Amino acid sequence: MITPQVTVVGGGMITNDQILPSLYQIERQGRLGEIRICALTARPLKELADSELFARAFPGQSFRPFPDLAGDLDQPYPDLYREVVAQMPPRNIVVVAVPDQLHYDVIMTALRADQHICSVKPLVLKASQAVEIEQEAYARGLLVGIEYHKRFDDRSLMARTRYRAGLFGEFRLGTSCLLEKWYYRHSNFQNWCTAENSDAFAYVGCHYVDLVHFITGLLPVAVSLYGIRDRYPNGNEGFLWTDARVIWNNGACLNVQNALGFPDVAPGTNTQGLIMYCAGGDNGALISHSDQYRGLKYSYTRNPGGAGATVYAEPSPDYFQYQDLGGPGLVPAGYGYRSIEYILAGAIRLEEETSGLAERQQRLRQIDETGIMATPVNSRYNELVLEAGRLSILNGGREALIEYGERPSVQLRE
Ligand SMILES: NC(=O)c1ccc[n+]([C@@H]2O[C@H](COP(=O)([O-])OP(=O)(O)OC[C@H]3O[C@@H](n4cnc5c(N)ncnc54)[C@H](O)[C@@H]3O)[C@@H](O)[C@H]2O)c1
Repeated sequence: MITPQVTVVGGGMITNDQILPSLYQIERQGRLGEIRICALTARPLKELADSELFARAFPGQSFRPFPDLAGDLDQPYPDLYREVVAQMPPRNIVVVAVPDQLHYDVIMTALRADQHICSVKPLVLKASQAVEIEQEAYARGLLVGIEYHKRFDDRSLMARTRYRAGLFGEFRLGTSCLLEKWYYRHSNFQNWCTAENSDAFAYVGCHYVDLVHFITGLLPVAVSLYGIRDRYPNGNEGFLWTDARVIWNNGACLNVQNALGFPDVAPGTNTQGLIMYCAGGDNGALISHSDQYRGLKYSYTRNPGGAGATVYAEPSPDYFQYQDLGGPGLVPAGYGYRSIEYILAGAIRLEEETSGLAERQQRLRQIDETGIMATPVNSRYNELVLEAGRLSILNGGREALIEYGERPSVQLRE
């Protein structure tokens, strides 16, 4: 059995909320070697190392921090990940969890060091970079899995199977939203999710674009993105409210609203959902998913604490929960865990079940074609939509058109 070493690059919110606990669980099952985490500074690593929740859930488990925790916690080491990745034996796993605009450098560094990749979304901000990543990975027989965890929500898989069985006819009009809570503005987001780098659609809108493709197999061909500039508490400017119209290759239209603006006192950690109106034969069909309110209403005696917690809550049992199954520790459950596990298990199987480059390449093509795991080949539309969205938002919402083919590109409609 192969038990790969894993290096996570980035020690922020997503590493804390989803990646590290998932890795600890897989390690606990005896399927992983050492876990290393490299961040810009040691401070977030100290928080992860001192986490009471992790101590309770994963007693006796730990990770190796880079930079180590003995020095100045705020000294930045922007290039340390290069050394940490270079030290890894070939064909282990790098998990990419840095801010969006750094993904490309970290992924290319890891591929050139012959590492499999699990990257948080979005893979990169430009389709041409996704093509480069795809070519480098394929030439070396390495897996690149992009962590669109909504795909592993059971309801997404149910809709996909039923849509592809013809039960919903054809998608025509849709509306989706994902609004994060207002308090996000106070986090590290204000340092990087700024107007010149990103926007609310680029940050979270991609999930529902990805999901509509995942369910239907359709491809987005045009995007117009309207954004409202707003100030973060530190004065930086961001497009913190966005409204996108995405046109698909069958003429269907999806509206996507995103913001860092859902009220902090509202129940749930955010608000989100997808409605797809479809046409089949001589009847309409409907897919309607409330992805925030999942039927649970809890009124606590006090605020339970933790980011965004409220006294009245509508918690999601489905994304990421720690369950007490009798110990030792607690067991992660939900599609957040399943998504990380699926990609890592894919990399492990690739190493275990193939011998030689040609066989690995053949297996990679199968993974692309199966389409459950997002890869640079089968989810290139995501980078194109992102690029089109950026072009549109910076041009006052003008429509940007997507060209597929050998050299995919986007351009404003004349
Ligand atoms: N729903 C989702 O799929 C989802 C949710 C949240 C975040 N994300 C993605 O995860 C990524 C990280 O988001 P986050 O919320 O954890 O951000 P964050 O700001 O909380 O954390 C970013 C981390 O990157 C580290 N970092 C920055 N520069 C670095 C460098 N040069 N070398 C090593 N580490 C460096 C920082 O130290 C920090 O630990 C983003 O791409 C974001 O879009 C995805």
